[in-house]
Amino acid sequence: MLLLDSLRGEKIDRFPVWLMRQAGRYMPQYRELREKERDFLSFCKNVELAVRASLLPLELLDVDAVIIFSDILVPLEPMGVDVEFTEGEGPRLSWGGDVKDLRKIDFSSVEFVGEIIRGVKAQLRGVPVIGFCGAPFTLMAYMKERGSSKDFKKTKRFMWEGGENYRVLMSLLVDNLLEYLKGQIRAGADLIQVFDSWAMHMPYEDFEEYAQTYLRVLFEELKKFSPTTPILYFFRGSGSFLRALESLRMDALSLDWTVDLYTAMRESGKVFQGNLDPAVLYCGEDTIVERVQGFLRCIPRKTRYIFNLGHGLMPDMELSKVKLLVDTVKGYRLS
Ligand code: CP3
Repeated sequence: MLLLDSLRGEKIDRFPVWLMRQAGRYMPQYRELREKERDFLSFCKNVELAVRASLLPLELLDVDAVIIFSDILVPLEPMGVDVEFTEGEGPRLSWGGDVKDLRKIDFSSVEFVGEIIRGVKAQLRGVPVIGFCGAPFTLMAYMKERGSSKDFKKTKRFMWEGGENYRVLMSLLVDNLLEYLKGQIRAGADLIQVFDSWAMHMPYEDFEEYAQTYLRVLFEELKKFSPTTPILYFFRGSGSFLRALESLRMDALSLDWTVDLYTAMRESGKVFQGNLDPAVLYCGEDTIVERVQGFLRCIPRKTRYIFNLGHGLMPDMELSKVKLLVDTVKGYRLS
C-alpha cells in the first residue's frame, strides 16, 4: 500500500494522496446520501450510509487512503455530553459542566464506528483505512466553549485556573480516546490520524504543560498497544510549535499552509503531510495544475511525504477541481 510504503521509507514512484474532509458537502453524491438522515450525527451512526460516504472519495477521486466517515465529537456523547449539529451553525455541545459527572467510555458504546471500519475494509483492496479522533486539547476546548469559538476565553480560564479539574478532564479524555482508538485498530484501522484543530490558540509557553503532556501519553500508549500502526498528527497552525513537536512520537506531522515545508523538512527528521493551501481549488484549472506541480517540485525526491491540503475541503469547492488536484499529484512521477 503506497501510503504505508511511503511512511516506511520504501521506494515509491509517486507521492501518496488523500484529503481531509474528502467525503463532504462539495460532493453532490454525498449531499444526496446525506438527505437520507435528518441530522448529521444520525448519519454518522447509520453504518450503511457512513460506509457508503467513506467510500465515495475512492470511487470518485481514486485517492490512496479512505478515512472513515465520522466526526471528532462522536466519542463525547457517551461521556455525557450532548452534541448537536444545526445546519450552517456548526456543532453545539451541552453538559452539566462538572468534570466529576463525565463518564469513562467503553468502545461498545460507539460500536457503530467499529462496524463502519469493518464495512469499509470489506470493500477495499490495497488501500488503507484511516481511523481518527480529536486531540485532547481540541476536544476539551469544544466542551468548555460548548461549540466553536474565536477567542477561547472559557478554555483558557479553565486551563489557568481549573487546577485539578483541568488535569482530571484531560486525563479522562486521554483514557477515552485511547479506548476509542484501540477499538478502531481492533476493527481494522491501518493508520490513525489525530486532529488538533485548536491547539494553535495556545500560548507557546503553555503548550507542553497543558496540551503536549496529554498527547504524549496518548501516542505512547497507542504505540504500546499497536507498535506498527502509524500515527498521523494534524496540528493546525503548527508553524511556531515545530520545535516543541519534535519530541512527540508520531509517524507523520500534518501541516497547514503557514509553515515553510521545505525548511521543516531540512531541519526535522519527521515525515510530513499536507501543507498546500486548499484555496488553490478556487482558481482556474491551469492555476491549480501549475501551483500543485510547483509545490511538488520543491519537495526533495528522497523525502517521505504524504500529499494532503493544509486543511479540509470546503462545501463550495468543485468536485472536478478536486479530482484534477488528485490526478495532478498522481501524475507527478518520482522515478
Ligand atoms: O475527512 C473526512 O472526510 C472524514 C470525516 C470527518 C468529518 N469531520 C466529517 C464532517 C472528519 C475527519 C472530521 C473532523 C473534524 N470535525 C474536525 C477536525 C478537522 C478540522 O476541520 O479542523 C473538526 C474540528 C470537526 C468538528 C466539526 N464537524 C465542525 C466544525 C463541523 C462543521 C459544521 C458545519 O456545518 O460546517 C463538523 C461537521 C462535519 N463533519 C461535516 C462533515 C462532512 C459537515 C456536516 C454535514 O455534512 O452535514
